Amino acid sequence: MNAEQQNSSETGSEAPGYDFIVVANRLPVDRVQGENGELSWRRAPGGLVTAIAPVMQESDGAWIGWHGGAGEELEPFENEGIHLIPVPLDEEDLELYYEGFSNSTLWPLYHDVIVPPEFHRTWWDSYKKVNRRFADATAKVAAHGATVWVQDYQLQLVPKLLREARPDLRIGFFNHIPFPSPGIFSQLPWRKQILEGLAGADVVGFQRTTDASNFLRCMRRFTDRTVKGSMAIPPVATEAGETTGNICRAEAHPISIDTQQVAELAHDPEIIARAKQIRQELGNPKTVLLGVDRLDYTKGIRHRLKAYGELLADGEIQVGEACMVQVASPSRENVERYQQLKDQVELMVGNLNGEHDTMEHTAIRYLHHSYPLREMIALYLAADIMLVTSLRDGMNLVAKEFVAAHTDNTGMLVLSEFTGAADQLTQSVLVNPHDIDGMKSGILRALRMDPQESARRMRRMRRHLREHNVSNWSKEFLVSLGAPLPVDTLV
Ligand code: G6P
Repeated sequence: MNAEQQNSSETGSEAPGYDFIVVANRLPVDRVQGENGELSWRRAPGGLVTAIAPVMQESDGAWIGWHGGAGEELEPFENEGIHLIPVPLDEEDLELYYEGFSNSTLWPLYHDVIVPPEFHRTWWDSYKKVNRRFADATAKVAAHGATVWVQDYQLQLVPKLLREARPDLRIGFFNHIPFPSPGIFSQLPWRKQILEGLAGADVVGFQRTTDASNFLRCMRRFTDRTVKGSMAIPPVATEAGETTGNICRAEAHPISIDTQQVAELAHDPEIIARAKQIRQELGNPKTVLLGVDRLDYTKGIRHRLKAYGELLADGEIQVGEACMVQVASPSRENVERYQQLKDQVELMVGNLNGEHDTMEHTAIRYLHHSYPLREMIALYLAADIMLVTSLRDGMNLVAKEFVAAHTDNTGMLVLSEFTGAADQLTQSVLVNPHDIDGMKSGILRALRMDPQESARRMRRMRRHLREHNVSNWSKEFLVSLGAPLPVDTLV
């Protein structure tokens, strides 16, 4: 908040407010503890904040979100030139809104019901309450006519709540995860309220055209809106034939990565040396296979381990010649399904290593940690084959980062058809993770691919990523929203 805004909020007069606001469940910072116990904030890794930081800085923007702790009320603060406005969540909100409705109802429902979603009215009540808190916090600090960009499934009611409070705002929404077909979506007892919540936005962005068309089909089926092309139009409400409410457009805007930053890091001598060291520490195998995921049941980690285990058992891959590294970063650890998955994955890794390890070599090196981007790039460089075998995934940026890091066009990506990334990285080896035999042949195909062919494929995919980076993504979305922002700063 600048001095003028600070003054006006102290005097209780109307604050001029921010012209550009991002609203997301999480703030883009992590709290870190220094050696002497002092606390500070560090920008969290992730494309979204990198992509929109320039617009934020140019247009005096703010980011509204939860800071990650329970029951703590923090004052707004600034980090690397971005105004951050914390929204508090207490223990009960975390249990009902975050772990409950967001991650045990919506998350599995939107990911093809890989595990059964649970429907509880107390969770829904909490989701409504927390969405209102985010909407109120935004309405309070937005300048007249500001652009507000709401992110992801945790905040689907915010667009409508915000429009009711502040009809002057331009509101965009981006759904980072898949949007289900009407058949699956129909299970949700509050399907109409969620759709109407989203329809408060002028533009709702999705990763794939299939997601946008699923959303429009749901709109047609479960709300009073008429769907024409990409528009969901509210019913005619006055005798003069006027509609009440806004027209909402649904569009596909596949998110991407900061391709240049990844490529630059891949040329950093320290990171190159670290990649060599990783291979050495693994015993210099001929082939390193890599998986990097949040430990989430949507990622198909068990299916991947099964395929790899069978390849070892069949003698198609030998321990020592090959080694798999699986990074599984801790995620949503209070949710039962995630705890179960952790046990299952760790049992499988233990069995596989017990069966196939030698004194010298291991079949799988399993790491239940998160790593900073520099270490991730070193891992990508150390790997020959990247395995992304999600059962359903909105996009999957790890697949894109692996390709962008291999600036010498070595390596190959094995990629699930059920990721948003598969629409763009069409030169990868595409697999259906439910088909274990198919996945085994896919892995072998990637392993044995003629280097000239893999280089040609990697080159084409890298070209795509250079032309479609995360700045283009946010620029295209904001232009489509008609935001009067300095979007030129994005390219
Ligand atoms: C996915 C979601 C994000 C979410 C992230 C991490 O990428 O689309 O909205 O922030 O997972 O999950 P968490 O529950 O830790 O925020």
